[in-house]
Amino acid sequence: MNIYISSDHAGYELKFNLISMMIEKFKDYEVFDCGPYSEESVDYPVFAEKTCEKVLSDVQSLGILICGTGIGMSMAANKIKGIRAALCNDIFSASLARKHNDANILVLGSRVIGSGLAQEIVASFLQNKFEGGRHSERLALIKNLENRN
Ligand code: RB5
Repeated sequence: MNIYISSDHAGYELKFNLISMMIEKFKDYEVFDCGPYSEESVDYPVFAEKTCEKVLSDVQSLGILICGTGIGMSMAANKIKGIRAALCNDIFSASLARKHNDANILVLGSRVIGSGLAQEIVASFLQNKFEGGRHSERLALIKNLENRN
């Protein structure tokens, strides 16, 4: 499975920490760094869009977005049709984001949580699978909302 990850300047350091962790512990996954490639100040919606497009064009892939709080990245990502971005700053939410919400993007706030917790949240997100059933019906209702004017 492919994982696409990006950040803004606030999440830049955590992005590298998580890439290293995934390379070491999730050897079945291929990790793609979608930028930024320097610590200069950048606009998070640009990187949210870039990463979400990669996820949408690669069936079964997942994405990770990091900004200071995670709020801007999740707002931007959830504007894109087909994206279900979950801002999870705890392990329980990350597991449920996969099991119940079939989230295809995990969002983290680098100024909210430390790197140790962030690693565990990513691990929980990657290790859990969508349970389907009643949750599929609810996702269909979310999908309907994408077509509102
Ligand atoms: C950047 O200073 C900060 O606003 C951004 O990382 C993020 O927290 C926005 O939601």
